[in-house]
Amino acid sequence: MASMTDKGVFLSRSLAYIFAISMLFLILSSSLLFQSSDNSLLPKSIYNIIIVNKIHETDDQIEPESPPFLLSSCNKSSLPSTGSCDQDKALVKVFMYDLPPSFHFGLLGWKNNQNPNQIWPNVSNLSDIPKYPGGLNLQHSIEYWLTLDLLSSVSPHVSRPCTSIRVQNASQSDVIFVPFFSSLSYNRGSKILGTENKNMDKVLQESLVKYLKSREEWKRLGGKDHLIMAHHPNSMLLARKHFGSSMLLLADFGRYLPQIANVDKDVIAPYKHVVRRIDANDSPSFEERRLLVYFQGAIYRKDGGIIRRKLYHLLKDEKDVHFTFGRASSGGIRKASRGMTSSKFCLTIAGDTPSSNRLFDAIASHCVPIIISDDIELPFEDVLDYSKFAIFVHASDAIKKGYLMKLLRRVQRQKWIQMWERLKKVASHFEYQYPSQMGDAVDMIWHAVHRKICSVHDNGVRRRNRYRMSQMFLSS
Ligand SMILES: *[C@@H]1O[C@H](CO)[C@@H](O)[C@H](O)[C@H]1NC(C)=O
Ligand SMILES: *[C@@H]1O[C@H](CO)[C@@H](O)[C@H](O)[C@H]1NC(C)=O
Ligand SMILES: *[C@@H]1O[C@H](CO)[C@@H](O)[C@H](O)[C@H]1NC(C)=O
Ligand SMILES: *[C@@H]1O[C@H](CO)[C@@H](O)[C@H](O)[C@H]1NC(C)=O
Repeated sequence: MASMTDKGVFLSRSLAYIFAISMLFLILSSSLLFQSSDNSLLPKSIYNIIIVNKIHETDDQIEPESPPFLLSSCNKSSLPSTGSCDQDKALVKVFMYDLPPSFHFGLLGWKNNQNPNQIWPNVSNLSDIPKYPGGLNLQHSIEYWLTLDLLSSVSPHVSRPCTSIRVQNASQSDVIFVPFFSSLSYNRGSKILGTENKNMDKVLQESLVKYLKSREEWKRLGGKDHLIMAHHPNSMLLARKHFGSSMLLLADFGRYLPQIANVDKDVIAPYKHVVRRIDANDSPSFEERRLLVYFQGAIYRKDGGIIRRKLYHLLKDEKDVHFTFGRASSGGIRKASRGMTSSKFCLTIAGDTPSSNRLFDAIASHCVPIIISDDIELPFEDVLDYSKFAIFVHASDAIKKGYLMKLLRRVQRQKWIQMWERLKKVASHFEYQYPSQMGDAVDMIWHAVHRKICSVHDNGVRRRNRYRMSQMFLSS
């Protein structure tokens, strides 16, 4: 966990954030007052306008639909702040079940040595927080960062954005959080050991379903207000059929029936990148990135694997292209990191699921992603315009002879630099860390949960615009 932040630095940084955000708000609200004959903008969740503007210039602002104002939090117009957090300030009030440690930190080897009744590590004491294992498991560690963030929301020792707060009374909450580390449980416990006739992951899922169904909080709305994390595509394999009414936190919808998971109710969370995130100040320039295109990934026999193989045959002999197969070992991760930071473009190709951590590795390396995955779901696409920093190519086009190389060779230096500058800005939105910071992945997820609760739907504009860019390059 290299991303554990020094508290002093964090505090001064958050003060700077608060200052910047309040200035932005001041300028924004005055400009709105002056320019608008359309007053309907003002009562609308100002927060939404702010978060959109925090990320984009005004030209790519998308107006959210009017929320139905079901919850008082949907009317919140105060800005999320850091420092002391309370229920009135927070955007989302979250009730978290006190599940036994075997469902969460126990899976990381945490033991409540001092007090057997203690359910959670003391998040004010960094050395009491178990470390998450490195390597590829880390991709799906979303459950770990969100749970730590909720725990720290009521700790006076930790400074974080006041976007969500843990509340003790479920009837006063906006959402009920199920702190089961389902991806870790899948990664760690899905093999049958010795004399056990069921694997541990299966046992945990079964007891979770039983637990939830017995709870008043679940019965009240049939789980509709529950937030359940299942980021690994194979996690919750048995239990998921019970969670069709809940809000799921997923990597994509690839292995789900649409009646269980869909974009109307669920939230897509980024993978945690496994390559090192490069600093914006020493990101290699256009000239320093000597490779044109980089791809390193597993080869699959199923579905998307066909595309990977076809592309391999099309690209393998091209100049300035690195295209190899192989799963990354830890040495492989270092090599991939070097490869991506010395390439202008990085391919994200559908594998056995539409999403992969390749996209987030590319973003962390400031390597312009070329997304070849027609069914990919992108995190925060309602507030982030991916077409400003990534190029989408239809799979059917990408496998045409010469298409991809022609497209990439036509992207001019100036255009590439624009996308690279944007990447350097948005990279922080994909960063998981503890304590959480304003606008990082954890914070963005809470905001996305809030938009979902208030039914501020993604109106699909971004999705329709995805392929604009590649058409433009080819028609020029
Ligand atoms: C939210 O605001 C709208 C209009 O400003 C108001 O009509 C509605 O009653 C408010 N809802 C809640 C739950 O506060
Ligand atoms: C948690 O850790 C902090 C900092 O080390 C300490 O001040 C506090 O007393 C601890 N809380 C409990 C409940 O042990
Ligand atoms: C912090 O946690 C560690 C490990 O659980 C413990 O040994 C240490 O005493 C704690 N420190 C404080 C100040 O509570
Ligand atoms: C929880 O909140 C409800 C509604 O505000 C209240 O009636 C109830 O007494 C509260 N329960 C506890 C244990 O505080």
